[in-house]
Amino acid sequence: GIHTGEYGYKYRTIDGLVLPPYVTPKRLAAAQSVITRADDICYCSFPKSGSTWLANVLYLMLHDGIEAEGDMPLRSNLHWMESSWTFPRTQAEVDAMPPPRIFKSHMPHGYALGGGPGKAPCRYIYIARNPKDVAVSYWHFESNQSWSGGYNGPWEHWLQLFVDGKVQRGSWFDHVLSWWQVKDAENMLFLKYEDLKRGFPSQLRRISNFTGHELSGEAFERVVNASSFQHMKQSRFANHQTMRGFEGFLRKGEVGSWKEQFTVAQSEAFDKLYKQRMAGSGLNFDFE
Ligand code: A3P
Repeated sequence: GIHTGEYGYKYRTIDGLVLPPYVTPKRLAAAQSVITRADDICYCSFPKSGSTWLANVLYLMLHDGIEAEGDMPLRSNLHWMESSWTFPRTQAEVDAMPPPRIFKSHMPHGYALGGGPGKAPCRYIYIARNPKDVAVSYWHFESNQSWSGGYNGPWEHWLQLFVDGKVQRGSWFDHVLSWWQVKDAENMLFLKYEDLKRGFPSQLRRISNFTGHELSGEAFERVVNASSFQHMKQSRFANHQTMRGFEGFLRKGEVGSWKEQFTVAQSEAFDKLYKQRMAGSGLNFDFE
C-alpha cells in the first residue's frame, strides 16, 4: 500500500525498500523479467544523479547529435518499465519497439531491468553523484512537485530521511554500492557526475566506445554542445519546462552546491557516515 509520512511525503514499500507510489509490484516484476538484447542500453541511477543528462547524451549519440522536434521528445523516447505511467508494459510491447532501445531505471542492482549486468545482454550504464549534492537536489526536487513524493518540509528532516535510507529508492549507500559491485561486468559502465562535469568529451568517448556507437567529429561536437547545462535548460527537446513541477530536472547543475544547504555540523556528521559506509569499497567521490 501507499503510505504518507511526515510533511506529506508519499511512498510505497516493497520488501522494505521505500519507492515512489508509481512503482507498483507488477511493474517492477515486469521490468525485472523483461528479455533484453545486446543492442539495448539501460541507464540507471539513484534519483538526482544526472540521469536526465545521461539520457540526453545517449539519445543524441544514437541520433547523430540531432535533437528531435516537439515538446520533450527526450522524455517520451525513454522507456521506464518500473513506472506505472510509461510504456512499454509487456514483453510484446518491448519487442515491438525499434532498436536501438534505451531503457531507464532508478532501481538498486537487486531489482535491475532484465536481471542486470552479467545476466542479461543489455548494456548497463550507471551514473553516480556525490551524496551531499544528491540529497540537496532531491530535496529541492521533491519540494517542487506533487506527482511523486510531494515532501513539504524542512531540510534537516529531509536529510535525516536521506541518511536513514527512507527517501524513495532507499539508501543512497546501498544503491550505489550495489551497482559498484558489478562494475567489472563486460556489459557494465560506471560513470560519475563529477567526471562528466570535469571532462565531458573524454566521458562521451568512454560512453560511445562502450556502446559501440561511433560518432563523427561533427556529430561528436553536436553532442558536446547540446549536452551543456545551459543548452539543455533552454532546449525544448531536453527540458521539461512545459510541465509544471519539472523545474528540478535542470536546477543548478553544479558540483558542491550542497555547501549552501548543509550546516557545518550536518556536513561533519555526514562525512563520518560516508567514511564508515564507503570504507573498503574503493569508490570515491569529489564533493567540490
Ligand atoms: P541539481 O538539482 O543539483 O541542479 P536527475 O536527472 O537524475 O534527476 O538529476 C538532476 C540533476 O542533474 C540536477 O542537479 C540537474 O541540474 C543536473 N543536470 C541535468 N542536466 C545537467 C547538465 N547538462 N549538466 C550538469 N548537470 C545537469
